[in-house]
Amino acid sequence: MSEDLLLTTGTKKDQYESLLPQIKALLEGEEDLIANLSNLVAALKQQFGWLWVGFYLVKKDELVLGPFQGPIACTRIKKGKGVCGSSWAEARTLVVPDVELFPGHIACSSASRSEIVVPVIRNGEVVAVLDCDSEMLSCYDETDQYYLEQIVNIPEF
Ligand code: SME
Repeated sequence: MSEDLLLTTGTKKDQYESLLPQIKALLEGEEDLIANLSNLVAALKQQFGWLWVGFYLVKKDELVLGPFQGPIACTRIKKGKGVCGSSWAEARTLVVPDVELFPGHIACSSASRSEIVVPVIRNGEVVAVLDCDSEMLSCYDETDQYYLEQIVNIPEF
């Protein structure tokens, strides 16, 4: 494994196309889940510089904070609550262009303006969600959804 991530400029698609194989290579050969999730969020944070990137892991009947990069965050989220809990309950990606317009949004950081939450589905069950938050409105779109849904399929849970 190379020590440094090769950071790219260009379109969002260019950035993901460069990052995707690097994340695959980074996780290859390491079986520890926390190590892999930690490097995965670090790679996204380094490339895109979003405010917050992290995983919440399904534990019993709630989501519990996992590896993340960014400001401190709430540790537990119930199913159906906030964007993360809604993504879990609905088992689908939620793109939120303006968090103030999402009923029940949980504001871990007042600086967050838009958000995308991608469920991690294994054997038909949501086992975690990847949450990305931006200080900009409408930061995330279908390109992020397309690539982040591929990226969350890389780690073995
Ligand atoms: N905003 C999320 C909570 C998690 S933090 O943003 C890190 C939500 O509404 O579920």
